[in-house]
Amino acid sequence: MKTKLLNPLNDAYAIKKASDIIRSGGVVAMPTETVYGLAANALDTDAVKKIFAAKGRPPDNPLIVHIAEFDDIYNLVENVPEKAKKLADAFWPGPLTVVLKKKPAIPDIVSGGLDTVAVRMPSHPTARELIKKSGLPLAAPSANISGKPSPTIWQHVSEDMDGRIEAVIEGDISELGVESTVITLDTEPPRLLRPGMISAEQMEAIIGGIAIDEGVFEEVPAEKKAASPGMKHRHYSPKADLTVVRGDYEKFKKVLEQHAADGVFALVFAGEENGLPVKAMTYGKKDDSASQAKDLFFALRELDKRGAKKIYARCPAEDEKGAGLAVQNRLFRAAGFNFI
Ligand code: TXA
Ligand code: MG
Repeated sequence: MKTKLLNPLNDAYAIKKASDIIRSGGVVAMPTETVYGLAANALDTDAVKKIFAAKGRPPDNPLIVHIAEFDDIYNLVENVPEKAKKLADAFWPGPLTVVLKKKPAIPDIVSGGLDTVAVRMPSHPTARELIKKSGLPLAAPSANISGKPSPTIWQHVSEDMDGRIEAVIEGDISELGVESTVITLDTEPPRLLRPGMISAEQMEAIIGGIAIDEGVFEEVPAEKKAASPGMKHRHYSPKADLTVVRGDYEKFKKVLEQHAADGVFALVFAGEENGLPVKAMTYGKKDDSASQAKDLFFALRELDKRGAKKIYARCPAEDEKGAGLAVQNRLFRAAGFNFI
């Protein structure tokens, strides 16, 4: 299949063309404020199957359904509890996904066989326009081959998806750089399943107590059932072997002096890249989680392109709340919880 590139800046019909593809059962990559997504009609099992095939995604890992208006949620879930309304009021449109009991109309393939469905209303204007023009709820996982870092520029989408999907919408660089916060309201208290730029503390201020699933902090052992199937799968990994170095910059430098060799790269904070014995790439500023989130996946993919075999990464502050937890969660998973 030849993958079309659609650019809303130079083609007034780009979104119309994309929505035509979706309405006829195809898959289109779209920009969102978090990362790029692979969108298809969430109510069409065959269309959603194409997403799984394009990504090579394990079939037990459910998808997030994207809507453009709050009232669209009533087509997807049995009942909208007060806490869901309050969270939506505070954070939608935006990088928050809520898990609720699904309606029978949601195909099993979307929910990975669970009795719940994940719903999000993105804020990115192109994503919103595409949902509205399609007139459909759109299932959309991140637009990467399963296991790789999520794409934050359309070129990274093309590298993974060229020839596998009908079209890629060329948008800008993703504003946030990590995927949405996922919270389930199917448990009491509600439970954070994936940290993102909307923090547990921000949500607690609106709906009260939230539990944080242990899968957020650590590897879920293979024999254990995960609250969110995505926790179990290998994630965000570059081709290179990635190690997170705990401790300060002086220690980091010593570690690199011991390990300097061809194909070894450092992943550091802005301003730290000079004076190291190996080549370096940066991800954000030292005490600024938002800038780290924005750059992390981009940097991991670029390191692969530069031929990195082994990467040593600076560790973000570890008692982090807020967005820091999202950065930690992605980096530690990308490293397979491999630390020095
Ligand atoms: O920011 C985002 O959420 C991006 C953009 C494209 O919107 N999408 C995204 O989708 O990150 P994906 O498929 O890469 O991640 C979805 C996560 C997975 O960890 C999955 O296990 C979890 O949400 N999930 C989906 N449905 C669920 C459910 N019913 N119960 C628990 N977890 C669920
Ligand atoms: Mg993903």
